[in-house]
Amino acid sequence: MTVSNMAGRVIAIDGPAGAGKSTVGRALAHRLSLDYLDTGAMYRAVAFAALRRGIPVTDHERVAELAEALEMDVSEAGVVVDGQDATAAIRTREVTDAVSAVAANSPVREELRARQRRWADEHGGGVIEGRDIGSVVFPDALLKLFVTASPRTRAERRVGEIGGDVDEVESSIAERDRRDMSRQDGPLRAADGAYVVDTTGLGVDDVVDHVISLLDDQ
Ligand code: CDP
Repeated sequence: MTVSNMAGRVIAIDGPAGAGKSTVGRALAHRLSLDYLDTGAMYRAVAFAALRRGIPVTDHERVAELAEALEMDVSEAGVVVDGQDATAAIRTREVTDAVSAVAANSPVREELRARQRRWADEHGGGVIEGRDIGSVVFPDALLKLFVTASPRTRAERRVGEIGGDVDEVESSIAERDRRDMSRQDGPLRAADGAYVVDTTGLGVDDVVDHVISLLDDQ
């Protein structure tokens, strides 16, 4: 990989809920000796902090102020918000239900995108996962992936991770996808030049091998 700027060392992974982005992203980062950033955890951290402070997530101004001031550390080791471990707390149903409103808040998105670009600068690039990474945050990424899977597979994976009823989880992720795809700022879509990777029926190693072969073609 020859690199002239840090975007040249960014692998951008976008896609809907439960598509396998995190599992593939982490495995890919390890194989390539790059760091890994889960930007969804950043949106979740803001939603979590708002709920904890009693700020309605629909109060765009206050949530934007919160995002600008919030101390958060998102790494492979976990998520720390306000100096406290929030790794599990950001995955609760309450936070998941609140996160779409936070993600539709443009000043929040600007703040988190700035933090993501700073992170890439400080880490010499990395594997970065989210919804708008290839389309907005790093349009010049070395490789852009749009990772997806059938709705049933995605629901089954999520149930495997956090439990619940498959039908219910399928309809709740379908609703969140709908909100992610229909928002004005940074809607979920495959970025220009992204490779679409359907992980239905594929194991992690198969997907990672496929992505490495795409990278070799760059
Ligand atoms: O892991 P899961 O698929 O449940 O979602 P996530 O990656 O934790 O992201 C949670 C939510 O944050 C998404 O549904 C999006 O609304 C939002 N998000 C976003 O808007 N932009 C990103 N770059 C990453 C996440």
